[in-house]
Amino acid sequence: MVGSPGHDSSEPPPLPLLNLLAISGSLRAASTNSALIAALAANAPADCRVTVYDGLGRLPIFNADDEGERTPRGAGELIDAVTRADGVIVSCPEYAHGVPGGMKNALDWLVSRDAAVGKPAMLVHASPRSLYARAALAEIMRTMSFALCEGVMLEIALLGKKPPEVEAILAEPANRQAMRGALQAFAAFIRAR
Ligand SMILES: Cc1cc2nc3c(=O)[nH]c(=O)nc-3n(C[C@H](O)[C@H](O)[C@H](O)COP(=O)(O)O)c2cc1C
Repeated sequence: MVGSPGHDSSEPPPLPLLNLLAISGSLRAASTNSALIAALAANAPADCRVTVYDGLGRLPIFNADDEGERTPRGAGELIDAVTRADGVIVSCPEYAHGVPGGMKNALDWLVSRDAAVGKPAMLVHASPRSLYARAALAEIMRTMSFALCEGVMLEIALLGKKPPEVEAILAEPANRQAMRGALQAFAAFIRAR
């Protein structure tokens, strides 16, 4: 008998698991971007594991003098997490038509490393506005040589919503399906590379 127990040999073998690192650009306890990231992790298809990065608020402010051997531990952990990930997902608010400082600071720690080079990345959106930040983030990440997955669009309008309503919106079947669909499309983008 050919094949392994529990696997029908007429079916294609299961795809290897993709490890995706998800970063919210907001530090607010009731952040809608963080809620979206958490919901993506909870709704990931079987072939994707989404790990939420929670170190944004502990990163020191980027200083190019502190790279190399002097890299602070938190920045080193971020660099390692991005290096290990098969892909990176970012959900980020807009502040004053720009990218919030905490998010830009995290990206700055990755600029002169190899971690971002060719790394698949996808932007997802918790606000129907934030068009300046979306464009700026895409430009920054392309400049850093992330491989930005631009064909997938996930936007769930959570702007101004408070936690109970945010959870209810994210639990709607159509939104869960949209999240799964976006992750499946991102996984296909990663696997095609
Ligand atoms: C300091 C500050 C500046 C903001 N500036 C903008 C802006 O320029 N454009 C916009 O669409 N929203 C702006 N907003 C609204 C936030 O982007 C919005 O509340 C977002 O949903 C917050 O994300 P969070 O829930 O993940 O914290 C601003 C909010 C703050 C606190």
